[in-house]
Amino acid sequence: MADSPFRGTFPKPSQPRPAAPGSDMTISCRATNPLSLQDDLGKVFLDENQAKATTATRLFRNEELLDAVKRLTSEFIQSKRSGKFCMWSTGCSSGEEVYSMAMVALNEFSKAKRQPLMEACGTDINPERIMEGRMGRYGRPGKDAFAQNYWVLLRNYAEMNNSQVQMGDLLRSVCTFAKFDMRNKPKNHTFHFIVCNHVLQYYDAPGQRHIIGNLKAVLKPGGYLYLEGVTEHGLDGLNLVKLPDRPLLYQVGERPRGRTLIRRK
Ligand SMILES: C[S@@+](CC[C@H](N)C(=O)[O-])C[C@H]1O[C@@H](n2cnc3c(N)ncnc32)[C@H](O)[C@@H]1O
Repeated sequence: MADSPFRGTFPKPSQPRPAAPGSDMTISCRATNPLSLQDDLGKVFLDENQAKATTATRLFRNEELLDAVKRLTSEFIQSKRSGKFCMWSTGCSSGEEVYSMAMVALNEFSKAKRQPLMEACGTDINPERIMEGRMGRYGRPGKDAFAQNYWVLLRNYAEMNNSQVQMGDLLRSVCTFAKFDMRNKPKNHTFHFIVCNHVLQYYDAPGQRHIIGNLKAVLKPGGYLYLEGVTEHGLDGLNLVKLPDRPLLYQVGERPRGRTLIRRK
């Protein structure tokens, strides 16, 4: 039997945590490609290329997203708010996005010399990808895969050999993964920052509005959504405002002021 490349080098990953109970109810929702939890995701898309693209992800994929994580973590630390800084990546595939966000946030806590009071949750409809996320072990990226500053983070929070990367214990302790279909309403938890990246393009506008409404319902007051791939009417009626300097960041708009006039009969 071939030796594990990690034997004696990396800490053994702890057992994956169980998924939250009751997280796989189904609801009906119009989607361009209607998914169900029983589907093999590869089969519901039109051609093979599109199917492969559905779970594609990688470490430090989006500079814009990671800049937002850095800024929001730093704002949270400076605000001296109590509790944890909570982030959620919905449709996280095998977890690289969650770990990348968590490394950037951990680094902000470390620079501020503060305890890392934070959590990064990752959910996906696809249970196999979630298992991979829990293991936190990936092929080693090529040296030009991302900028030097991210290599520094990876060396700080993960262990590497020539072919693989194992996410380290501190990093794994702040990241959790669960199977969850975001067409359902989440409950029991609220977040400062919710990310839906490279997912919404698979849904039509009513599907997008439905999903984004579900996400908005568990956004903490003053929290932010990062929404990539929204189509023209995907936000209609949701009262979300785009931040002018950060195109994919949204906040809940203010309630209309003033009294509502009720006409007497
Ligand atoms: C292209 S990957 C995006 C991964 C990651 N967010 C990124 O940007 O690198 C899209 C993921 O969305 C997931 N997905 C699609 N519909 C979903 C749903 N209704 N609920 C949860 N995950 C979903 C797919 O299983 C897939 O893993």
